[in-house]
Amino acid sequence: MPDLDIDVLVSEVGPRDGLQSIARAMPTDVKHRWIVALAQAGLREIEVGSFVSPRLLPQMADAGQVVREARKIAGLTVLALAPNLKGAERGIAAGVHKLSFPVSASRQHSVSNIRMTPEQAIEQVRQTCALCAAIPSGLRPSVEAGISTAFGCSMEGAVSEDWVMKMAADLVSAGAGSVGLSDTAGCANPVQVKRMFARLQREIGNHAGAAHFHNTRGQGLANVVAALEAGVTTFDASQGGLGGCPCAPGATGNIVTEDLVFLLESMGLRTGIDLDRLIAAREIILEGLPGEPLYGNVPNAGLPKGFRYASPGRNG
Ligand code: COA
Ligand code: ZN
Repeated sequence: MPDLDIDVLVSEVGPRDGLQSIARAMPTDVKHRWIVALAQAGLREIEVGSFVSPRLLPQMADAGQVVREARKIAGLTVLALAPNLKGAERGIAAGVHKLSFPVSASRQHSVSNIRMTPEQAIEQVRQTCALCAAIPSGLRPSVEAGISTAFGCSMEGAVSEDWVMKMAADLVSAGAGSVGLSDTAGCANPVQVKRMFARLQREIGNHAGAAHFHNTRGQGLANVVAALEAGVTTFDASQGGLGGCPCAPGATGNIVTEDLVFLLESMGLRTGIDLDRLIAAREIILEGLPGEPLYGNVPNAGLPKGFRYASPGRNG
């Protein structure tokens, strides 16, 4: 749940979901400066990298160092992705606050992404939660699961909603603190989003977690509004819309953080994020990845005349 002074938690995933899909690696020191700039803009939670196979994704090979640096930023929740127990152990050693597990509802996507069936992936979550339970509570990371391809898969097509809900319940039984739904392939629509998040809350109550949308077919922000109507309060997004999935053909970037913050603040929902500072942080991405295309309408158009933030303390 968001802190008391915000209504919606925007969880930045650019340094993980964004950078994993770009073949070149952003230098570690630039990653750190980008993460600092995002935190200074008001982002409270950042997925800073992933503890995956460095042979598969060399862009993420410095995740341990990135986590250790990010931990020095006061007030920031440092999140990292782990696909298996080994990744979780590496993340715990680096000092993550939260581990996020991508558990795919589509068997084909699951096997091509992490070489495990959904059941095997849930078992990795169970083993990680057992490992975490032995860590003293002040140091113990929380474990989140995100059900990838929850709204459809670019390889398998439609995904059964009953199966997604069964997986969510199994993940809670395995010990996951929260379970979110991810539109990895960008095929969700607002009606489906509202129905599935409402059902997720009925099935797993306050374990229902974040919404993770990609803007592959331009439905990202419409899906955000639908998820808000279903009571979702945490949204993943990536600065400049960087992103994709190496194992979901055709998947493009996440919803754009800058556009999401503008949407939320305009609707009167406090995010605690300063858009001018956020937009300025784009320059750091281009320092690390010269010429990389960045997306987003708000950064191009600027804030409208008379724009007022919902967040107190932000001038507008
Ligand atoms: N981090 C680092 N190394 C890992 C690892 C991890 N999380 N998990 C396994 N390895 C190592 C093993 O130690 C082993 O090393 P060795 O050959 O030196 O002994 C090697 O990788 C193979 O181990 P195995 O368990 O057989 O893994 P795999 O080859 O079946 O790959 C994953 C499984 C999950 C590690 C790999 O598919 C992966 O990293 N996928 C993530 C893809 C991704 O990031 N997608 C986008 C995010 S959703
Ligand atoms: Zn994603």
